[in-house]
Amino acid sequence: MSIKVNQITDWVAEIIDFDAANMTTEMKQEVEEAFTRNHVLAFRNQTLTPTQLSEFAKKFGPLEIPINRLYIHPECENVLILSNEIRPDGTAVGLVDGGDGWHSDSSHIRIPSKATILQSIKNPDLGGDTLYCNMELVFTALPRATKDLITGRFGVHNVSKILNPRMTVSANRPDAKEFYENAAKTKPSVLQPLVRTHPVTGKSSVYCSPRFTIAIEGMDDNQAQPLLDELFGYIYDERFQYRHIWSDADLVMWDNRCLNHKATGNLAPGDIRRMHRTVLAGDEAYYQSPVR
Ligand code: SIN
Repeated sequence: MSIKVNQITDWVAEIIDFDAANMTTEMKQEVEEAFTRNHVLAFRNQTLTPTQLSEFAKKFGPLEIPINRLYIHPECENVLILSNEIRPDGTAVGLVDGGDGWHSDSSHIRIPSKATILQSIKNPDLGGDTLYCNMELVFTALPRATKDLITGRFGVHNVSKILNPRMTVSANRPDAKEFYENAAKTKPSVLQPLVRTHPVTGKSSVYCSPRFTIAIEGMDDNQAQPLLDELFGYIYDERFQYRHIWSDADLVMWDNRCLNHKATGNLAPGDIRRMHRTVLAGDEAYYQSPVR
């Protein structure tokens, strides 16, 4: 082994003594193996420039271009800045409400994301953690009747918070209202399987989120909304979660095919959090009945 992998939980590991800017082919293969065994990998002490971050991420597959072009890093179009910083002229440095509801990245587009790689640039003294929910554990924990009810069905996903009564449009993001009003008109909903098969491990997970899933295809809302609330209740359950408390220069890679995640916020007034995010494009989500 040329990389050092320390298990943090059954499905989360940290990679230490590793330099993401100088990853060899052998190391990349070992990282991929670690990523198949784990859903979250935390690489410690990585100080990458935006271009180096993008080059590192591209080694695992093609990248998505962020849909909100306002907060793209000027050095690299694949890198989105998430931040609460305000420039002296009053403009925002980054997207302030990125990740403010539980979700899996890009489930609102037909071909959703495979993985996200997020780099901590500036950590707040308090708060600013990221929560992850293991949706495979959620699927396993569901009652048989709920599994039967959702298997083979599709969730309706939409990016616009205006179409989602579970979300509120952030008052502290200047472009948010216009962005989501425009998205409601121009970004059609997409269907995603409510039970998803992981393309590498073959495991089943629940694939929906309070942030993006607004309905269930072909099911009346009287039945669908309580069912979604039941599923979302599992996401809020700490038994299925991991909380990442960021250290400076952490680089965290997570699997969007079997996780939900959420930024917890709760920063002290005046404190700054700044992250650089790259998102790996994925494959169409599907469900395949497991071989027994
Ligand atoms: C995200 O949702 O992609 C960002 C999560 C975070 O900033 O903690």
